[in-house]
This record gives sequence, structure tokens and C-alpha cells, in this order.
Amino acid sequence: MTEKGIFIVEGTSEQRQKIEHMLSNMGENVVTADLEYLRRITDHCHQQTPFCKEVQGLIAAADQQTKVKVRRKAERPAELFRCLVGASSGMVAVKKAILMVANSDTNVMLLGESGTGKEVVARNIHYHSSRRGKPFVPINCGAIPAELLESELFGHEKGAFTGAISSRRGRFEMAQGGTLFLDEIGDMPASMQVKLLRVLQERVFERVGSEKSIRSDVRIIAATHRDLETQIDNNEFREDLYYRLCVFPIQIPPLRDRIEDLAVLVECVLDRLKSEQQGRIRLTDRAVKALSRYLWPGNVRELANLIERLSIMYPNQRVDILDLPEKYRSNVDVDPEESGAEHAGVDDPRVSATTLPPGGIDLKQHLAEIERSLIEQALAEAGGVVARAAEILKTRRTTLVEKIRKYKLDISPTRGDFDGELDANS
Ligand SMILES: Nc1ncnc2c1ncn2[C@@H]1O[C@H](COP(=O)(O)OP(=O)(O)OP(=O)(O)O)[C@@H](O)[C@H]1O
Ligand SMILES: [Mg+2]
Repeated sequence: MTEKGIFIVEGTSEQRQKIEHMLSNMGENVVTADLEYLRRITDHCHQQTPFCKEVQGLIAAADQQTKVKVRRKAERPAELFRCLVGASSGMVAVKKAILMVANSDTNVMLLGESGTGKEVVARNIHYHSSRRGKPFVPINCGAIPAELLESELFGHEKGAFTGAISSRRGRFEMAQGGTLFLDEIGDMPASMQVKLLRVLQERVFERVGSEKSIRSDVRIIAATHRDLETQIDNNEFREDLYYRLCVFPIQIPPLRDRIEDLAVLVECVLDRLKSEQQGRIRLTDRAVKALSRYLWPGNVRELANLIERLSIMYPNQRVDILDLPEKYRSNVDVDPEESGAEHAGVDDPRVSATTLPPGGIDLKQHLAEIERSLIEQALAEAGGVVARAAEILKTRRTTLVEKIRKYKLDISPTRGDFDGELDANS
């Protein structure tokens, strides 16, 4: 019995926690795979132990969550997936390649680091092809356990294996007339590579448990962040399959090599967030400069996640360099004094200085408060020496003295010649 099978029958509290944790942390792709896996194990479990029943309960709950996730995703307008922004030479080349290849049935291989936009490009190819009115069906070949992948791709007949309680279409059938996106193809197990090769060569497949051949009319787009040529050298990927899939390769450049696209990508993410009712942030030039020097190992996905996070933290505010998480500004020297003038983080009392509250504002009083606060800070920094504070504020000493009187600032005797100066000027 598998490791997970043992959990089900003899579950200790630690193992139970592990399964609960697994179920609550499964990503969208893993959900289907892991749930199917657990389902099949519980099907095998003849003793209906309390733990087994409990796991079945958890599976049902996770099923429900998946439905909600899928529904939410479906509610996002399809346009968002087609949005492919960037005017860098790298992206211009990618867009040209998309248009060149879209209207043929040629197999396309998308190569690029994680988060560079391989799925966005795949959807664009489908959208610009004559198959546009038919389904675009993605499958993450790396997230589905080897023993389930065959039935996931080709479907199965009722009773084909334990747990196959009804017949089911696979992704090839779902994509008939449209496009099948084989994501993370480099993670496909060797046993499946052979089967896929056969479909690509003969254009027919059979459901698991059936002998009836089905003609396949799908356009294949594959993607990987791996170096397939190295995998071929290591005997991890079939060379014949590679040449079948890689008829038209498109290399998607990492964000660090097209950093001039950063600003438009940020705008694109902000537009999306706006449509989801999220307050729009504005990045200062210095924040953009810091982000432009960062290397973005997670590429556009990392950028999109950062912008979403900043929009939650600083809704409708200006985001300056010091508001960025530390790792995004480590390539830029930040002068704390200089940055203080522009910084407008959520914990900073100056946040409100430039943000108009929904109910309006008493402008005179608001400006007076800002003035008073700045004078207090300058005096503190100058150790109470008015002449020095006036220099810091770039104002005349007499003007400052007047304002100190006006705001009735509390002048402590420890501040050197403060009292004396005031008296002298009064
Ligand atoms: N050129 C682009 N224009 C707009 N959004 C983009 C672009 N490229 C990527 N994105 C956004 O970045 C995120 C990651 O894109 P995508 O899922 O296509 O990357 P990926 O290369 O498939 O990543 P992985 O290898 O991790 O699967 C998505 O939110 C996508 O909308
Ligand atoms: Mg992807």
C-alpha cells in the first residue's frame, strides 16, 4: 500500500494533520490530481475506519472549494488572459511569432522561465487561430501523478480501473477542434511520452479500457521551463517526441531582459485590479527605478503578485521606495532623509498629506497641521536651535519664530538657546 494509503487506514493524529494540511493547501492543478489519488485510495479501503470516513469528508469539502475556485476563475473575463503587453524587442519578436504560427496547425513549443507568460502566449496563439471558437484546454503534465495522467489525457471507460465508476472524456477529447496546452511537458513521465508520441504521429487515441480508436483533431502547444535538450542528453526526455513538439519553438524572454516593459506590465496589472475593485496605487519614479534594477526570478508572475500586494497595503496611495519590501530595493542606495520627503507608507502620518479622503477635507487646517508637524521635527533635529531649524526648513528665522508662536509650540528649556532666541525676536 502507498504511504498515503497507510495514513488512511492507520491514521495517527500527526498523519491526519498532514492530510488536512495537504487538502487545505492544494493549488488548483494539484487539487484534481491529489483528490483523485486520495479518492482511489479510499475506494480501496474496505475497512470503513473512522479515519477513512473523515478523509472522505475532507475530500468532499475540498471538492466544494475547487468548484468555487473554478467558478471564480471562469468569472474573470477571457480578455485578461489575452492581454500580452510589452514593447521590448523581445516581446515584439514573440508577438510576431504568435501571428506567424497561429493560423497553421503546427505544434508549438513555448520555452521560458517560470512566470514569463507561457500560458498567456499559448492562449494568444489559440485566440488568433481559426480554432478560436473551440475549446482551449490546458493540462499541467507535472502536477498529475503518472498513474492518473493517461486517463486524464485520453479518458477512460467505466470499470477500466478501480474507482472508474463511470466513463469519462480525457483532455484530448475535450479539446476536439481546439487547442490542447501541455504545460510542463518536461515533467511528463517517460511511459506517457511514448503514448503521446503515438497520438502525435497517428492522430488517434483510445480511452483507457477501450479498444475503440478516436480521431484526434487538436492543435498541440507545449511549454516547459526546463532545458529539454539537457533532459534528452540525460535520457529524461525522448528526442523523437521533442522534435514532434518543437516544430515551432518560441522563446519567451525573462523580465530582467525586457525591463523596459515593467511600467506597462504594472499598468496592465493595475487595470486588472481596478476591474476587481482594488484601489489603484501610484509608484514613484524612485520605486520604479528600484524595481527596474531587481532581477525578477519569478518574472511577470512575481511582479503581478507584488503589485497586487502593494495595492492591498496602500490602496489609492503613492508607493515610494521605502514602501517596497526590502529585497526589491536592495539594489538601490536609499538616502533615508531624501526618501522621507517622498515616502508615503500606510504607517506614516504623512500618508494623508496627499490623499483626498472620501468626505473631503478642511484644507486650511490640514495644511496647518502639516506645517506644525514639519516645524516640530525640524526643531527636534536642530536640538532646539531656531536658526538651524530655519535652515533645515529653508525659511527665514524670523518667519519660523512667528510660526512657533502661532502654533504655541511647547518649547522645553533643555533646547539650548530656544527661549532666548524667541525672546530676542519677540
Ligand atoms: N506579457 C504579459 N502581459 C500581461 N500579463 C502577463 C504577461 N506575461 C505574463 N503575464 C501575467 O503573469 C502571470 C504568469 O503568466 P503565465 O502563467 O502565462 O506564466 P508561465 O510562464 O506559464 O508560468 P509557469 O512556468 O510558472 O507556469 C499571469 O498572471 C499572466 O497574466
Ligand atoms: Mg504556466
